[in-house]
Amino acid sequence: MSADPFAQFKAVQREGWASFSPLATFTTPAAAALVEFAGVRAGQALLDVACGTGVVAVTAARLGARVRGLDLSPVLLEDARRSAALAAVEIEFTEGDAEKLPYADASFDVVLSQFGHMFAPRPQVAVAEMLRVLKPGGRIAFSTWPPELSVGRMFTLVAKYLPPPPGAAAPPDWGDPAVVRQRLGDAVSGLEFDRDDMIVPSLSPRHSRVNMELTAAPVAKVVEKLQSEPERLAAFRAELEELFGQYWARNRVRQSFLMTRAVKR
Ligand SMILES: C[S@@+](CC[C@H](N)C(=O)[O-])C[C@H]1O[C@@H](n2cnc3c(N)ncnc32)[C@H](O)[C@@H]1O
Repeated sequence: MSADPFAQFKAVQREGWASFSPLATFTTPAAAALVEFAGVRAGQALLDVACGTGVVAVTAARLGARVRGLDLSPVLLEDARRSAALAAVEIEFTEGDAEKLPYADASFDVVLSQFGHMFAPRPQVAVAEMLRVLKPGGRIAFSTWPPELSVGRMFTLVAKYLPPPPGAAAPPDWGDPAVVRQRLGDAVSGLEFDRDDMIVPSLSPRHSRVNMELTAAPVAKVVEKLQSEPERLAAFRAELEELFGQYWARNRVRQSFLMTRAVKR
């Protein structure tokens, strides 16, 4: 048996996130916000953790940073490599786990993660790894979904229908500044927060729900699991549509997210 009790959970995530690419259209503007918030400069060695299709990595590389990106999903990494080639930047993309980064201690000036490391099941393991590979005086910054807003509430709804393995943290906890402060603890100084908005075009709350079923791994997994329970599946879908309805107006869904930055001591 694997020594890592979360290995099966990550194997499911690795397959599930393969359909995420269409959503990168909406994480692209957010990537610019995070890169700016982190103060990325040319020449810095930078790691994008859970990089997906590489929107943060490519944004930073176009500013002249020396970038590496890591993600669980080999399918998304292929998209990331195509995107870097299109941008004419060199980025080393590696398949791997945020909880076990394949880099030496103090390798990077900047470590970023956009809506990414929040899905690692053990926050303290992921954050310890991100800080381990960061140089003292280097900057860690990430964007996360707050628990009290649309996407955070969607993940809470997902957990109601498909509970995570025992001991796994809830991803939107990373969107609570008090939790972030506690998790980064004394390892950092200069902790600061900001917020930004993501606007997702959508013809109706139902369009939003279907879009999530097709692209967001945790939502797709609930739908797959409830195929043999049509009544519960209908209830889940109704709850998700009702939730999106609270944020939908004028053919768009507005979703605010939290940005965090800090300096490693
Ligand atoms: C919502 S997507 C965000 C992708 C990208 N950062 C962006 O902003 O477009 C979440 C990403 O986290 C990755 N992921 C989830 N768990 C991970 C883990 N334990 N280690 C590395 N990547 C992980 C998924 O494969 C997926 O690419």
